[in-house]
Order: sequence, then structure tokens, then C-alpha cells
Amino acid sequence: MKNKEEVIILAIESSCDETAVSISKNGRDILSNIIATQIKIHEEFGGVVPEIASRHHLDNINHVIDEALKEAELEFHDLDAIAVTYGPGLVGALLVGLSTAKALSYALHIPLIGVHHIEGHICANYIAHKELKPPFLGLILSGGHTHIIDVLDYQKYDVLGKTRDDAVGEAYDKVARVLGLGYPGGPKIDEIAKKGKGDAIAFPRVSLEKGSLDFSFSGIKTAVLNYVNSQKQKNIPICIEDIAASFQKAVVDVIVQKTIHAAQKAKREIIVVAGGVAANSLIRETLKRRAEEEGMKVYYPPIDLCTDNAAMIGCRAYYDYIEGKSHDLSLDAYPNLKLEAQ
Ligand code: KG4
Ligand code: ZN
Repeated sequence: MKNKEEVIILAIESSCDETAVSISKNGRDILSNIIATQIKIHEEFGGVVPEIASRHHLDNINHVIDEALKEAELEFHDLDAIAVTYGPGLVGALLVGLSTAKALSYALHIPLIGVHHIEGHICANYIAHKELKPPFLGLILSGGHTHIIDVLDYQKYDVLGKTRDDAVGEAYDKVARVLGLGYPGGPKIDEIAKKGKGDAIAFPRVSLEKGSLDFSFSGIKTAVLNYVNSQKQKNIPICIEDIAASFQKAVVDVIVQKTIHAAQKAKREIIVVAGGVAANSLIRETLKRRAEEEGMKVYYPPIDLCTDNAAMIGCRAYYDYIEGKSHDLSLDAYPNLKLEAQ
């Protein structure tokens, strides 16, 4: 049974291969955060198969909701709102979460709040760091997005830079495939790179025009592929550890340099990193060190809140809820929902 002053939100996240449901109190207190992962299922295909993901979301969603309520020791009638990711993501996967959220909102007569998945990733930091509040510089590093944003308020931000081609996580996953490391590639490269030399191979560091805060990662991915092919043609054995370490070093160098530059430009002393690639050990260590040298502070979510979860979606929805913002039941799923200035 909940207290009257508390805002209890049930959030659903199903944009990719995790069926996740969370119950949160006043945005930042997590009462339950359940994740049914499909990684093992998609591993054998070397990546997420959209149709299979949707089917598994359907199988899982009701159990995950029951488990989240049970762990929070609450009932449906204790809920004040339903939050759900409505994009970006795989359309079939998003629709499973969205339809469930709409049904709950309709049946319980409580607001439906659609959340942009990437805005949710940023909010993972609010859960972990209770003192954190905007403004700050946001760095989003995920499987589908690479953005530098100036976060002005909980719902307001300016996009300062973004990738012009591949997202950083996508580059990690593609390079991991070239190296035969399997899916998801990011954590595997992170691990294996610890045994290699970051300066062994000079992969390109693409900075684009002078002062640009945009990224481009497709060149480095091709450079790794060309390097592996040319070594094989010459019958020279490749050292996967050195390739992984050199690739990672080149990517991290560019990200860190641009992020520090962006923070200086936007006059922000706090940098907040979010998204699956925020779990990367070299990014965490290098950015922290460089930021400290510049008198800046960096926040990361704990590893379990870096990758997809529903707690971050509930947290983002809370800030809409307290302003009375919600969606009606015509809300659709948007696979390519943009992260634009608000
Ligand atoms: O944010 P996320 O869970 O999903 C999207 O919203 O896209 O990010 C998934 C991405 C994958 O590309 C995965 O390989 C990458 O995050 N990732 C990592 C690490 N852990 C996950 N990349 C580098 N190092 C890691 N430790
Ligand atoms: Zn994500």
C-alpha cells in the first residue's frame, strides 16, 4: 500500500532485446527493476533478430510486470502512471511494450507517458546520483546513438554534436564481428583489449572539420576490416588483443577530446555519460582523468543501469508527470524517433 504523497510509476522498456519493467517512487527511488534478457537467444544469430525479439517480448511481458509488482509489494491500484518507451527501437518490439502500457493506462484510468529511449538513458544517472541535477553536458554512447547534448533542464536540451554515420556501439559490434568475438561486441572488445597494446596499430582518429562536435565511426570500422584482410592475405597472423586495444584507444581518444572541448564551449563543469557504451572501462577511466585535469566532474550510471532497463524510463516519465504532461491512447511507436532540441 502506498503513501498518498508518493508518485508511483510502472515503466515498460521493450525497444530492443530486453523486456524490462520497473516500479519507481518519485522518479529516483527504484522499488523494483526486472529485466528478462534475450541476449542468449540472439547470440547464436550474431545480432538481434527483430521478429524473434518481438515474440519473446510477448511471451515475457506479463510475467515481468507481475514480478515487478510483487517485488515492489504493490498492486495495480497503487500505480499513478504508466511510462513506456515509444522510440527509437525495433518497431515490433516497441509495439509490445506500447500496447501493454496503453491497455494498463486505459484499464486503470491513469496517465500514459511515452518516453524517448535515449532521454531515459540520461536519467539512469539521476537514479544513481541523487544530488545530480541539470544543467550539465550529456554524452550519449549507445548502440544506436552518439550525441553530445547540453542538458538545460529535465526536459530541455540542445544537441551540440552527433554521429554522421555509425553509432559508437554499432562500431564496437561490427568490429567484434570482424574479429569473430560474437554479440554483443562492446563488452567483449572491452575485455580482450585489456590484454592488448593500444598503440600497436595506428587506426584513424576522425575529427571532421576543426571545432566540429560531430563524430564519424564508419572509417575506423572499415580500417579494422582492411587491416585484418591485408594481414590475412600476407599470411601474417593477427593479434586480436592488439587490434581490439588499438581500435578502442582510437575511438576513446576522439570521444574524450570532443567531450572535453564541448564542455569547455558550453561552460559546463559536469559531464554525464549514458548508454550501453558508458559501461566501457577505457572510456570511464580516460574521461574521468581528463575531466579531473580540467576541473570537471564526470557521472556514470552503475554498469547495470548503463544498458537497457525500465527504471531509467520511469525516472524520465516522472518529470513529465509532475508537470501534468502525458500522451493519449493514440500514441504510436517511432522506430527512428529523433533526439532533437526540446
Ligand atoms: O544503450 P544500449 O543498451 O542499447 C541501445 O539503446 O542502443 O547499448 C548497447 C550497446 C551495444 O552496442 C553494446 O555492444 C555496447 O552498448 N556495450 C559496450 C559495453 N557494454 C555494452 N560497448 C563498449 N564497452 C562495453 N563495456
Ligand atoms: Zn539503450
